Formats: sequence, structure tokens, C-alpha cells
Amino acid sequence: MPAHNLKSMCVIISMYSKQVEESISNANASVGDEIELFDRKTGKKVHGTLMPKTEVGDPNSIVLKLSTGYNVGIKYTDQKEIHLISKKKEHTFVKPELKKKRSLPKVVMIYTGGTIGSKVDYVTGGVYMLTKPEELLGAVPELADIADIEVMPLMSIASEDMGHEEWKKIASAVVDATKMNAHGVVITHGTDTMHYTAAALSFMLHDLNIPVVITGSQRSTDRGSSDGFLNLASAVRVAAQSDIAEVCICMHADSSDLKCSVIRGVKARKMHTSRRDAFKAINSLPICYVDSNGEFEYVGKYRKKTQNGKQTSAFTNMEPKVAMLKAYPNSDPEIIDYYLSKGYKAIVIEGTGLGHAPTSTADESHSWSKKVKKFCEAGGIVAMTSQCVYGRVNSMVYRNLRLISSAGAIHCEDMLAEVAYVKLCYLLGNFSVKQAKEMLVKDITGEITLRSEIDSFM
Ligand code: DGL
Repeated sequence: MPAHNLKSMCVIISMYSKQVEESISNANASVGDEIELFDRKTGKKVHGTLMPKTEVGDPNSIVLKLSTGYNVGIKYTDQKEIHLISKKKEHTFVKPELKKKRSLPKVVMIYTGGTIGSKVDYVTGGVYMLTKPEELLGAVPELADIADIEVMPLMSIASEDMGHEEWKKIASAVVDATKMNAHGVVITHGTDTMHYTAAALSFMLHDLNIPVVITGSQRSTDRGSSDGFLNLASAVRVAAQSDIAEVCICMHADSSDLKCSVIRGVKARKMHTSRRDAFKAINSLPICYVDSNGEFEYVGKYRKKTQNGKQTSAFTNMEPKVAMLKAYPNSDPEIIDYYLSKGYKAIVIEGTGLGHAPTSTADESHSWSKKVKKFCEAGGIVAMTSQCVYGRVNSMVYRNLRLISSAGAIHCEDMLAEVAYVKLCYLLGNFSVKQAKEMLVKDITGEITLRSEIDSFM
């Protein structure tokens, strides 16, 4: 499996002025090198590591990281000289000595990037991708006692850069892994769009008969406080030891470092920008918890492995012309005409409350009904979800709900907006519009629960 060019992920962009750039290159220096800044006027010398200039701040001031760890900005003048002291030590890959125990269950680890596969460059302060995925195994040596791990370096990207093409590559890699007699698959992934990828794989993979466990970390594994160690160890445990036959997400269950939640891929959402327990099960219980001793506590229903499992296949066609829209006060539904003019096949509305969009506004141009009706009459599909995230939408309780529903919006039970988006890409990529409309509100892989498993939330 060809890996993307991992080196390109370490590009550091310096925003210094032309004069400063020339002085740096005349001294044969570059960002990350140890330099001395000598002031001919005062005779003063300052030693430090040359840091990249960020987009903000004076491009004529040189940023040095001092031996104290603090960064200082020093105004560059033609009275100043830059002297190179030593070049930056290149990040060298040290192949970890991994004890392979063939007797253990085989787990294929598909590496895609994200923070879990990154390190903090203490020279520049930036976070960059590891040069080799095996470094990740080296960071968590206890993995060798849990499973016989085969690393599959697929890509090294941030998850905000994931798209349909990457989802297709990951789905195909999972199918390859099932042909390698893997007991389970772990996918290391950025956290920001992890739940989109989890939903996409949940729909794409047919006859899945092993656990596919997506994990990541909010803090890189070279930081003591990283959540990556427990996340990765727990994910490998689920892949190696559980009888789950679904796509799930495995991340911290709470802010302590004691247990992880294993959440169905179509019922997970990242609910916090930075906390280690950012992922929550929405409108469902987690499938299970795994604690730091490797103990499992199963709490929710899940699809189990069967003996006569068929060969897993991947339906990877995804319709690109599906959009997500948020309804909000004073919103202009004209945007729906834009998508219609661009040939979009479906729109997911993140409605308010039980699934509203403005329908009886004082200013009629703010009512969404006509635009929704026009989009539906042109053969488009409009799915209605709720920006409340928890709970389920309803098309009957209020008159306004009935108005937007009669315009053609399809209320999607307790399905997350992100999941409705992914589901429509999948349905319109593999079925007719008529079939897609019917299947949208039918549960396929646990994305719709007719009765919520939980009545509490968060
Ligand atoms: N750029 C974010 C991503 O790849 C980093 C956050 C993370 O991986 O936790 O999702």
C-alpha cells in the first residue's frame, strides 16, 4: 500500500522579511538551527534556536528560542549579524525493537495520521507527523503483549483534510486486512472528523465480521499527558479480543486515564475541542468500556461475529453533491437555490429543536418552505436533523414542523446530522434516488434507533 509522502508534512513556513531571510541564508542558517545574533553597535550576543515566524508579528524581528525555553523577538537591523553555531538535528527514525508474538491474535493497524501519529517539534513548537508509523508502536510497547500487529501505513494527513477519496482508500484497506485473517483492525486517525470516517466505513463495509476500531488522541504521544497510549492499547485490545463485528470509535470515557468508551461508529460524535473524553455516544449507550487493566464491561447491544462470516466487501461509491446546511434565525434560504443550480442531489438541514427551519417568518423571504419544495420537486432529497444533537426530530408536534415536512423535508428520527450527510452520500452513490429516499429513514447499521437506549445525555 503506497504511503503518501510523509516528509511533506514537516514543511515549516517562515514569514520573515526579505532582508531577514537574506541574512539567514547568508549565514547558511535555517529554522531550527542554533545561531548567535551579534550586535556590532553594542557588542551584545544572543544565542538561541531560530524559530519560524508566524503570520502575526513584525517580519523584521527574529524569533529565538532561548536555552530557558522562552521565545524572544529581536528587532533585526543592519547593525546585527547572524552567525551559525550548529545545524538542527534532523528527526531520525529509530526503528523500535518490537517483540512479535505470532501466537497472539493478528491485528492490522491502518495508519492515516492525526495527532496520535504526531510529535511536538520542541525546536519550532510545531506538531508534525511521525516519519514512520512504527514509531507509534514503539511509543506503546505493551501492544506487543496484546496482539501480533501488522502496520499498514496508508496516509499521513490531518483528519480535516479527509474526504471521500480517503474514505474509499481506508475501506479498501480494511477489506485487504480481512483477507489477511486479521482478528480485528485498528485505524489511527485524527479526531476532528473521526466520526465522519466511522460513519462512512459503517455504511461502506458490507458483511463485516471483525471489529474495526478507530482511535486517535487529543495530545501527541510524546507528551506525558497524552491520551494516545490508553486509546491505542484499548483499541488494540478490542480488535484482538472482542467479538464485535462493527465499526466503532475507541477514545477516553472520562478525563481520568482509567478507561475508554467503545462507541458505535454511527452514534459517536466529537463533543469537545480538546478534552480527552471528547467523544460521546449520542442517543445510545457505548458498546462497551475497556479499562486500563484490559477489562471489558459490555453495556450496549452490538452485532457479534459469526462463524460463517462472508467475505467483507466495500461499496465505495460516494455521491459528492450532498451538502449540509444549518437553519438559524434570519437565515436566507436562497442558499438552497445555489445548491440546486450546482446540481446537488441532497441537502441535510441541521434544524432547530424537533426539526424546524423558519417557515412562518414575518419576512417571507426568510421562509425555507418554498426553497425546500422547489429542491424536492426538482428531484432532490432534503433530510431534516437537529442541531440539538441529542434526542430525535418529529414532523408532527407543531404546525411549523408540518409545514416544512409537507414542503418535502424528511425528518430523520435520532440520526446525527453528520451521519445523515454520510448516509446520503453512500445511498445516492450506490442506489437510485427513489431507493435512497426510502432507505434514508430505515436503519441500516445502527444509525437510527426506534427507541433511544438512554434517556440521559452527556
Ligand atoms: N488536525 C486535527 C485532526 O487531524 C488534530 C486533532 C487530533 O488528531 O486530535 O483531527
